[in-house]
Amino acid sequence: MNRRQIVAGNWKMNMTLEEGTTLASSIIEKLKPSQTSVILCPPYIHLHSLSTLISGISNLSLGAQNCHFEKSGAFTGEVSAAMVKSTGATYVILGHSERREYFHETESMLAKKVNAVLSQGISPIFCCGEKLESREAGTQEEVVRTQLEGGLFHLDAEAFSKVVIAYEPVWAIGTGKTASKEQAQEMHHFIRQLISHRYNSELANLTTILYGGSCNPGNAHELFSQPDVDGGLIGGASLKADDFIAIINSFPKSE
Ligand code: PGA
Repeated sequence: MNRRQIVAGNWKMNMTLEEGTTLASSIIEKLKPSQTSVILCPPYIHLHSLSTLISGISNLSLGAQNCHFEKSGAFTGEVSAAMVKSTGATYVILGHSERREYFHETESMLAKKVNAVLSQGISPIFCCGEKLESREAGTQEEVVRTQLEGGLFHLDAEAFSKVVIAYEPVWAIGTGKTASKEQAQEMHHFIRQLISHRYNSELANLTTILYGGSCNPGNAHELFSQPDVDGGLIGGASLKADDFIAIINSFPKSE
């Protein structure tokens, strides 16, 4: 199978520029060349400096954690996809559950953000995932289906092929409570089936689907060994170089 395996670090609102530069330098020092693509997603203001730092390292790239859907204008405090791209970043995390929850991002807003990112020739890392009450009610698949239909499935196949998906059950984010390998595999398989029905099985098989939510060096291997799990979107554990590197080295092939 020639799906890309990816480990992305979502630094969230952590790290001053100095701390972030130290962390990125330490990751660079320990990173071995491999076929795993590694993406650092620091706060916006670090992107340009880190871009200079990582230049020339083939399997390392940068992503933003959000962007606005408009090209430019009177949107104080916002950052456009073109601005993200101009720093050297090539990915944008969109629809993270913290943005959906605290910043009221809706499916229709996210669809516009997805278009804005793709129009710049860079890739969205599109997050989806259910809250605890949906998991307990057994409606997790409906929730994820609605998120994908609302935010991504308006794309044509060519545009969709540039998208990375991250399944992040909200109850597992920052809680230390990881989805079991069976729960992760079941949902990733479901997402791949949705893509297959909307587009085709070839595109579904080529789509990278990451797991996120309390992924750490102790559980990454069993999660990444699942047939439909192609890597991880890592929060807390991406802030420590040793943990992040251990996660990157957790794919079955890299043993
Ligand atoms: P966590 O966060 O690894 O700290 O649970 C993951 C995420 O929010 O992307």
